[in-house]
Amino acid sequence: MKVFITRRIPEAGLQLLREASIEITEWTEKRDLTTAELIGYCKSHQALLSAGHNRIGVEFLEACAHLRVVSLHSVGYDNVDVPAATRLRIPIGNTPGVLSGATADTAFLLMAAVARKAIYMHKKILQGAWGFSDPTADLGIDLNGKTLGIWGLGKIGYEMARRCRAVYGMRILYHNRGHNEEAERALGAVRVSFDELLAGSDVLSVHTSLTPETAGTFNAGVFRRMKPTAIFINTARGGIHHEPDLIAALQQGVIWGAGLDVTNPEPMAADNPLLSMENVAVLPHIGSATQETRSAMATLAARNVIAGLRGERLPNVVNP
Ligand code: DGY
Repeated sequence: MKVFITRRIPEAGLQLLREASIEITEWTEKRDLTTAELIGYCKSHQALLSAGHNRIGVEFLEACAHLRVVSLHSVGYDNVDVPAATRLRIPIGNTPGVLSGATADTAFLLMAAVARKAIYMHKKILQGAWGFSDPTADLGIDLNGKTLGIWGLGKIGYEMARRCRAVYGMRILYHNRGHNEEAERALGAVRVSFDELLAGSDVLSVHTSLTPETAGTFNAGVFRRMKPTAIFINTARGGIHHEPDLIAALQQGVIWGAGLDVTNPEPMAADNPLLSMENVAVLPHIGSATQETRSAMATLAARNVIAGLRGERLPNVVNP
């Protein structure tokens, strides 16, 4: 049995695959494969372990309908045509749960960095501009006692809310289709309409998945319904906010700041105006990038491969 792996993954996952006597082919070039290349490699393999965001669309899936499993090294699966995979009976695996804490840490640090202009101030030191300290200049905002709004309170949103409640005593609002009873009980979170979330949040953190319904949701009209003092945080997917509208909203003072771990496109160009704004912090999609979390993701992804190759139900499967 052979698995094709699209990017280097941590040793913990490779070790499990070797122990299961699965032959590994790793793509080691530092660029994404084209669909044609991916099809070419997968022809001679029975499993694909996709790390990164290769498009697993209908063209690929139909050409590789022999695959027994496609295992993603991510919780997000917006890069996969799941209905097509289901039609072709290809199970798709992902890695939920293990990256919730690390991703929430990233959202939390972006929030704190924006509130205190940390990235901008760091850049000023690098530019030799640490001059005479002016008590009225470069002031941030306190987060203590403010209101956090979570759009999409699942595992990662819960961890972000828990941190904000514990550290800053923040009031938690959230907008979900259904109730999150644990968050309501443990954190006093209040479920509100989308409009109430926009109007009531001092920090609005996005934790929903990218779907045709959520794509481009945060646009000019939506930013205008937020507080002019609000901070927008996105650690989910860049496609959920409309980037030119976000830039305009920040330039015009429609909202106060933004912290992004995800952009659209990725990578972000080095001359993007967001990178030179005072109240903005941008990270290069490192939400889950800790040694422990990436090893746990590799382990889950390997377990999904092993189960798929054995014809068993994947431990974490996204097909309905
Ligand atoms: C995920 O797991 O979906 C992260 O965003 C990494 O892609």
